[in-house]
Amino acid sequence: MVQKKEGEVKDVGKVAIYPGSFDPITYGHIDIVERGLEIFNKVIIAIAENEEKRPLFSVEERLQMVKTFFKDTTNVIVDSFKGLLVDYVAKTNAIVILRGLRATSDFEYEFHMASMNRSLNTHLDTLFMMTSKDYFFVSSRTIKEVAKLGGGVEGLVPDLVVRRLKEKFKLPVAKKKQIGWDD
Ligand code: PNS
Repeated sequence: MVQKKEGEVKDVGKVAIYPGSFDPITYGHIDIVERGLEIFNKVIIAIAENEEKRPLFSVEERLQMVKTFFKDTTNVIVDSFKGLLVDYVAKTNAIVILRGLRATSDFEYEFHMASMNRSLNTHLDTLFMMTSKDYFFVSSRTIKEVAKLGGGVEGLVPDLVVRRLKEKFKLPVAKKKQIGWDD
């Protein structure tokens, strides 16, 4: 239990919202969800429908991948939202925003976001977890870049995401050009 303000006591052992683009979900994200479940009874993974970020995967595709991965984890809810995160949080019974921090380079972006959210809703806190050492170099952006260039991302994202990335980046098989001295 945590004392919020005089007379008000809030139970922190309940629901956390884990928002993000998840374009696509990585084992870094999954690690945060799993560790979040050691603190909270339930974690809501809230996928932002942020079309201005020009995501590789549509929100439906992202939802499907995340839902499939967590299909047997009853205390994880997977949902999507449009607009302000604080407005979405207000529609749920979540008490905290959960975010992962990989390195100091994440800090400024996260600090601004957490401060803005707190200014929009003074009762809403953001809880940061340091990403596990195995995934501190993993981001959705680098996963997409590596996959697009044909590099292996196995072990960094779930197998179904590896398959989806391969489908997305499938390029027409280039015809081999016979190079001869007469060309
Ligand atoms: O995985 P990401 O892209 O770092 O996640 C960022 C996200 C989706 C959490 C953030 O962009 C967000 O909350 N978007 C919703 C719009 C909003 O509430 N903006 C004000 C907070 S700065």
